[in-house]
Amino acid sequence: MSARYHTPLRYPGGKQKLTPFVIEVLEANDLIGGEYAEPYAGGAGVALELLLRKYVRKIHLNDSALPIYAFWRSVLKETDALNAMISSASMTVEEWKRRRDIVRSPKNHTLLEVGYSAFFLNRCNRSGVLSGGVIGGLDQTGDWKMDARFTRNELIRRIETIADRKSAIVIKNWDAERFMTDHVGGLPEDTLVYCDPPYFEKASRLYLNSYEPDDHERIAKYIQTKVGHNWMVSYDSAPEILAYYKKRRSFLYDLQYNASRVYQGREVFIFSDSLRIPKFSELPYIDDALAENKARLRARRAA
Ligand SMILES: C[S@@+](CC[C@H](N)C(=O)[O-])C[C@H]1O[C@@H](n2cnc3c(N)ncnc32)[C@H](O)[C@@H]1O
Repeated sequence: MSARYHTPLRYPGGKQKLTPFVIEVLEANDLIGGEYAEPYAGGAGVALELLLRKYVRKIHLNDSALPIYAFWRSVLKETDALNAMISSASMTVEEWKRRRDIVRSPKNHTLLEVGYSAFFLNRCNRSGVLSGGVIGGLDQTGDWKMDARFTRNELIRRIETIADRKSAIVIKNWDAERFMTDHVGGLPEDTLVYCDPPYFEKASRLYLNSYEPDDHERIAKYIQTKVGHNWMVSYDSAPEILAYYKKRRSFLYDLQYNASRVYQGREVFIFSDSLRIPKFSELPYIDDALAENKARLRARRAA
């Protein structure tokens, strides 16, 4: 496993590899040392890189999926108990089924049990998809077995590193709109808000919580009219998404992301008018992104 990143979660569509770009955005806008909020935090890859490498002073994370929240809460508030569970984890299919059942009906369990179970599935499932299958299959006859990504010592170390900064981490389990209104609204001016909502296409296969097209449209309106801070949004580049944000500056890029071929393709980054966008050589600008989008939209309607 790569030790380059700090997040202990594997996340479908995890954005940590975009951290260098986000740092450039912070620099270009005098936001280094400011605060940073992610209403759709998931594995919080970018946020943790920024905090632990001291580019921001505080991070505000939110995810409406209870198991994801329960994991982050356990990292911050029950660090030793969580790490003890990881240390003595039993790598059997029976245990995997037990953890899966807890994530499926979390209400009857403690947040620590739910959080640990979410982590267990995240590390033992294919591509980290919580509702997906176990690595190696139920009969464990695949080339890789379920413990292939369960590198205990490294994961415990990551959790300890994060917990050491707990006074600089806020975590909520709200709907993103509520988080943006009731929490982000009160944050200082030097806060950057990064929204990475569930993908427009195929998200229900990847995440516990996802949106219908109407929700994406409503969120697009909300972000563009109600978020008072500097913001950025990233998405899969569905024509509908590009249309919702057509008045904003954006660029397309290839994330070269591959959750077992569940999703592959171009993504789009969209910016609030208030932000200065740095030129970033690794993410080529595509000046005619919107023209290209119009053509795709026309082709889709004609099909
Ligand atoms: C694309 S993922 C975020 C990935 C993250 N940027 C990373 O690098 O790991 C989207 C996340 O949004 C969460 N989510 C879905 N609907 C939500 C909602 N209405 N409010 C808040 N979070 C939501 C999902 O549970 C999922 O974890």
